[in-house]
Amino acid sequence: MATFKETITETAALVETALDAFLPSQAGPLGRVADAMRWGALDGGKRLRPFLAVAAADMFDCPRARSVRVGCAVEMIHCYSLIHDDLPAMDDSDLRRGHPSVHKKFDDATAILAGDALLTQAFEILAAEETHPDGGIRCAIALELARASGKEGMVGGQMIDIYAEQKEFDLAGVTQLQRLKTGALIRFSAVGGGLIGEGSADEITALTNYAEDLGLAFQIVDDILDETADAETLGKPAGQDAEMDKATFIKLLGMDGAKSKAAELVERCKSHLDRFGARAVPLKGAADFVFERKN
Ligand code: IPE
Ligand code: IPE
Ligand code: MG
Ligand code: MG
Ligand code: MG
Repeated sequence: MATFKETITETAALVETALDAFLPSQAGPLGRVADAMRWGALDGGKRLRPFLAVAAADMFDCPRARSVRVGCAVEMIHCYSLIHDDLPAMDDSDLRRGHPSVHKKFDDATAILAGDALLTQAFEILAAEETHPDGGIRCAIALELARASGKEGMVGGQMIDIYAEQKEFDLAGVTQLQRLKTGALIRFSAVGGGLIGEGSADEITALTNYAEDLGLAFQIVDDILDETADAETLGKPAGQDAEMDKATFIKLLGMDGAKSKAAELVERCKSHLDRFGARAVPLKGAADFVFERKN
């Protein structure tokens, strides 16, 4: 059986090839925004969200041609969120995935537009018939992604994250912030995979429970790495959360407390998948990967 590393590398390559085709360079006046979209979406990243979508869909023997499209859609939203997150008005980060951030390579206006265009194209991909012949299924997936991305999802989380810089948060507040900011797209990834694979309602619930715990663990580890790793390893600036006084689990629980919380969530998230037996091995591997990752 393939190792987790081999499986995620294989999926990442499929996604990279599909993204490259979705985002061609072009001549003329639109060339600049097309290049900025490519800069923000290609060549880098762990591709965890598309991995979750494809691995969840694989459990139901879904054709990869379908699940990779769902993976590309969520990765486009994720890349848009990173492009905007790095802007001077937000985290003001010059480095992303080991390269200059989109606004450094291009300019702020181009970065805003490239993010907007990736967001919109994600829904174009989901709405197209190639994603699934059943329009009801395409619509259900688009609805989930819209909810995960907008005010009640990632955008809302980013808003609270900025607001939190001047406010004291308790554990419930930080949990809500992280569930929205990062958790919502991770949750969509697994659920979107289940929907494209036509899993049953119970199976989708199990995927939801898995991804909710995983998403929280993911952001706790992101915050731990922000404090403990260096920019070269991370491919993005380190130490920004403390500098900006962000609301993190580390601030509330301390480093050891945050680590045990992440470990506990990772074990719990795997247990939600026990009903799938051996089919869940890749998704359980993703949980260990989230905990052990170095960037
Ligand atoms: C970074 O996400 C932003 C957060 C939501 C914490 P990733 O760590 O998945 O970033 P890439 O896609 O691998 O660059
Ligand atoms: C950003 O969280 C999450 C989103 C982009 C929605 P962070 O600000 O912690 O992400 P990094 O650390 O810059 O990747
Ligand atoms: Mg941020
Ligand atoms: Mg940031
Ligand atoms: Mg961070």
